Amino acid sequence: MRTLIAIVITSLLALAALAIAQPTVPGVPFHDALRGTAPLDEEPKAPLIAPTENKDVIRGLNYAQQPPTIPHKIDNYQLDKNANRCLACHARSRAEESGAVPVAVSHYMDRESAVSGHLSPRRYFCTQCHVPQADTKPLVGNSFVAVEDIRQQPAKTKKR
Ligand code: HEC
Ligand code: HEC
Repeated sequence: MRTLIAIVITSLLALAALAIAQPTVPGVPFHDALRGTAPLDEEPKAPLIAPTENKDVIRGLNYAQQPPTIPHKIDNYQLDKNANRCLACHARSRAEESGAVPVAVSHYMDRESAVSGHLSPRRYFCTQCHVPQADTKPLVGNSFVAVEDIRQQPAKTKKR
């Protein structure tokens, strides 16, 4: 009987020790770049949407193969299965008249790089890759460096 009680007590003590070892919620309030410190079960007031930049000035690219950002407003431009307003100006056949930059030849290629006379379906939904911009502070940090910039930095560790 005594041994049984001893076993029960030791197992209870072991369980208690385990419970204490469980990770605890840190005292620091949860912080998310988008939500701030608002608790997950509360809906914070959303910040105002920044106005889209509409300067009509083509921006430089940050890396090779980057889809250029859209330098004009695209509000109310229909872009769905029925109509593509972007192409009304950007199709190669329309560019001369509209003054818009014609879509790159890559937009007429299929995945086998065969060029066809019509826009490739995989390039139909322009805003999948091209986005308008706003002059705002970045929400999260970013230390991206384009590969050509890495190569331009002098190789310090390299022995010659
Ligand atoms: C009314 C004509 C018109 C329509 C519609 C239009 N654009 Fe443009 N777009 C232009 C013109 C003109 C430019 C040249 C810069 C400028 O004047 O804004 C341009 C520039 C661009 C550029 C920059 C190209 C570069 O080389 O940097 C992109 C990307 C672009 N438009 C995407 C789009 C997308 C996506 C849509 C549809 C959501 C669209 N555009 C609808 C006229 C148009
Ligand atoms: C799958 C991604 C993707 C989609 C979808 C897409 N583009 Fe592009 N676009 C790119 C990339 C990447 C480039 C730059 C490299 C290149 O020329 O292919 C580009 C380049 C461009 C350029 C600049 C051409 C130049 O000569 O400087 C224009 C204008 C453009 N796209 C318009 C459009 C329009 C309008 C649509 C919709 C009909 C569209 N794109 C759909 C990825 C895309």
